Amino acid sequence: MSLVLDSAAQDLLFREARTANSFSDEPVTEEQVQAIYDLVKFGPTAFNQTPLRITLVRSPEARERLVKHMAEGNAAKTATAPLVAILSADNEFHEELPQLLPHFPQAKDLFFAERPVREQSALLNAALQAAYFIVGVRAAGLAAGPMTGADFAGIQKEFLDADHTPLMVVNIGKPGEDAGFPRSPRLSFDEVVTTV
Ligand SMILES: Cc1cc2nc3c(=O)[nH]c(=O)nc-3n(C[C@H](O)[C@H](O)[C@H](O)COP(=O)(O)O)c2cc1C
Repeated sequence: MSLVLDSAAQDLLFREARTANSFSDEPVTEEQVQAIYDLVKFGPTAFNQTPLRITLVRSPEARERLVKHMAEGNAAKTATAPLVAILSADNEFHEELPQLLPHFPQAKDLFFAERPVREQSALLNAALQAAYFIVGVRAAGLAAGPMTGADFAGIQKEFLDADHTPLMVVNIGKPGEDAGFPRSPRLSFDEVVTTV
């Protein structure tokens, strides 16, 4: 009763949504990915730095190059998912900052002149955006299978450059018949929340 989001949307985004390990053959279109991004880009980041970058792995040749860097248990699902995305953090996000933060363009030089500071900030904020992205995939009626079981140094060399740190690989599609295992328990409010 305390939530204003309608119950069907709550189910779609959270209660009924599961991490998918298998998918139907239905393709994920460019229009769907664009609609997802155009929704989740509004999720907040520090100084509006928006450091998430998304590499869509569409061609069979690129998929093969990615699969060889996935952990054994992740390879088959990455090979067969309708679409796979590599989510990375842009450590040079400050170049776009004056455009993204027009009311305070000095932030670029004041706060982000040093690379180690940018790396730390990009990691946190791109991870936040990755979470928004997963929820956005669900909002499109699709399922996401995020994975960190991979050789990220290999993925960086194969697909990115020294300025982009890969964070996770996400399989995307309509979930297949095989739901995997039952939903695992979550920590309760009382176990997690401390009020001081
Ligand atoms: C950042 C991240 C990394 C994950 N890495 C893997 C992975 O490498 N392999 C895997 O099978 N599942 C992976 N998962 C899936 C989680 O185990 C799954 O989301 C979690 O158990 C919740 O499952 P549920 O959404 O079905 O409740 C990952 C999930 C996240 C968010």
